[in-house]
Amino acid sequence: MSVRLLFPTVIFEYNLLEEGLVTQTYLDELKADMDAMRMQDPVGRQISNAYTGWQSNDGCESRPAWVKMMRVIKEKFNQEILPFSGVSTSRFQVRMGNCWANINDKGAWNKPHGHNGCWWSGALYIHADVMREILLPSIQTLKY
Ligand SMILES: [Fe+2]
Repeated sequence: MSVRLLFPTVIFEYNLLEEGLVTQTYLDELKADMDAMRMQDPVGRQISNAYTGWQSNDGCESRPAWVKMMRVIKEKFNQEILPFSGVSTSRFQVRMGNCWANINDKGAWNKPHGHNGCWWSGALYIHADVMREILLPSIQTLKY
C-alpha cells in the first residue's frame, strides 16, 4: 500500500486583530450588524447550516458595515495570496463574488459543502463565545 497526498488543501490563515488591520470595536460592529440581520429575518436561509445555525442571504459585501472588511480581505488577496499563487497582480485583481453571514449557536454547525464556480472561498470569524480550535480536515502547516 502507498499513501500519497493528492490535491492537498492550502489554507491561508490571518489574525487581522494581531496584524492591526481591524480593531475589536470594528469586529463588535460587524457582530451587531449580523445580529441585526438575524433580528430582521429570524429564519434565514437553509444551505449548509445545520441544527440551529442561521444563515443570511447573499449581499453582506455591499452592506456599509462590511465595506472596510471587504477592502482588507481584497488587499490580503492582492498583496499576498495572488502572488503566492503565481498570479500577476498587474493583470488580475480579486473581485468578491458574494458574501453571507452565519451565526452558529452552541451545537450548530455547517455541513460539508462546495463553493462551485469559485476560485477561492473563505471564512471570517468575528466572534466566538468560547475560543477553541476550529476543526478542519487534516492539515499540514506550511511555512514559507
Ligand atoms: Fe462555505
